[in-house]
Formats: sequence, C-alpha cells, structure tokens
Amino acid sequence: MLKPEAFLQAEYAARFIGSKCPVRPNVAVVLGSGLGDFANELAQPSTIPFGEIPHFPVSTAIGHAGNLVIGNFVGLSLAVMQGRAHFYEGNTFAQAAFPMRVLHQLGVKAVVLTNAAGGINPQYGRGALVMVRDHINMMGGSPLIGPNDDRFGPRFPDMTYAYDREYRKIAEAEAKRLDIPYYEGIYAAMHGPSYETPAEIQMLARMGADLVGMSTVPEVIVARHMDVRVLAISCVTNMAAGLSGEAINHEEVLETGRRVKDTFLALLRAVLPKIAAS
Ligand code: ADE
Repeated sequence: MLKPEAFLQAEYAARFIGSKCPVRPNVAVVLGSGLGDFANELAQPSTIPFGEIPHFPVSTAIGHAGNLVIGNFVGLSLAVMQGRAHFYEGNTFAQAAFPMRVLHQLGVKAVVLTNAAGGINPQYGRGALVMVRDHINMMGGSPLIGPNDDRFGPRFPDMTYAYDREYRKIAEAEAKRLDIPYYEGIYAAMHGPSYETPAEIQMLARMGADLVGMSTVPEVIVARHMDVRVLAISCVTNMAAGLSGEAINHEEVLETGRRVKDTFLALLRAVLPKIAAS
C-alpha cells in the first residue's frame, strides 16, 4: 500500500543517507542471496546498515547482509544494496520496495536487480544466468495500491518496457564478450516463503514462466512508476519443484549462489559502466 507519507519518508531517508556519505549515486545494484560480496569492490565505501536508515525495511533473510554501501566503482557513483527486504518477511509490497523510492531521491536513474530464482525452463540448469525479459506477478498485490502520489509517477504506469531493452542488449553483449553463457526469460513472482508445489510450477510453466522467485517484482513496479530504468538478472540456484526429482532447500540455493558468484560479479563489473553511459 502506497501511503501518503511515503514521499516525505523517502526524502527524509535520502537526507539521512546524504548526511553519512558524500557520494551521490546515479546507478544502484541490489544483490540477491549469496551475491553480497560485490559491495567489496567499491572504493571509498560508506556502509550504512538498513536498520539505521529511517523507514527502511530490514532484511532478515539468511544470505543477506542488510547494508547499503555507496562508493565509487570504476569511475561511477554506485549504491549497492547487500540484500533486500521481502514481502514474506512481513513487509507490505510498498515497504519491501521502499528502497527504490529512496535511491531515486538520491539521484539514481538506473537499477540492476539481481536475485536467486528457481528454474522452470528445462533448458536451464543450476547456476544458469538469465536476463529477465518480462515478469508475471503472482504475488497477489502491487506496491502501488493506495492513493497515487503524482510526485512519484502516474496512476497507471506502463509496464510494456519494464525491463529495459537497451540494458538487456548491453548485458547480453557483455556476457558474450566474456564468454559467459546466459539465457533470456520470464520471471514469475510468488509471495513465498514456502517454495512452490510441483503443481504450481506446472501452472507457471503453462503461463509461460521460465523462472520463479520471491522478490524483484515489487521493486521493478516501483522503479518503473518513477521512470527508473531496470536491468534484472537471475541466477538459477535450483530447479523448481518437481523438475529435478529432489526437494529444494535454502542451503542449496545459497551454495549455488556462491558457486556462480565470480561469474556473476564479472558480468556486473562489465555491464555497470556501459549502463551508466547509455
Ligand atoms: N528462489 C530460489 N529458488 C526458488 C524457487 N524454487 N522458488 C521461489 N524462489 C526461489
């Protein structure tokens, strides 16, 4: 639910961050489960725990450090979120995506959202990297429900080009250049926290989903509401229920995240400067 006070809260949170950190970021990265190490690549980092930022939702998920790190990265001013808050942790969709509002206030015009996802497309295997082309929101709600605040964006934001085509092309070109195998796919968002049943996965497959996860979509909706451009990259940490003959556990998800981390980071390193320049 978008609350009328959200704009002031975002301004206040951005001012707090500005008081702790001299850098004004123009690109942001959200690091999903097991990918938080990328923040170590920033020069002159300011690290602010989510819990210290006014109105920021706190992440309790294992594998999420829960810091905002702002610093310089190969000549860019970058904001990196080590982890994110989820709906399944008890946040509303608007709370979970509130960091997008704050980043926008700080001057961010582009976000790279990363996540761990379950593979539905049978071509995928554990560790596959997928450029998200579109999504299917099965979370049962939107972060924009409630009175619209025109200072953020329109009542009915367009979602035709939610996943920026130019950014996707850049990411795919860089993956090719680095010899990193990748796919393009459609991400279905479920609210979790239980993983899906095999029957639910069959339903999502018939709907056209290639991937399933429990994050990202509220952030994409809020980012697009403010006309912030989005690149989303999923790491297939496990095949979805019923597809591998094995049960899913969170440890496996984290383990795959760790295994592909270096490849994922190499891709981010290559993509970020190109995105910032486009
Ligand atoms: N994250 C990683 N694997 C997942 C799955 N199978 N379903 C939802 N979220 C996931």
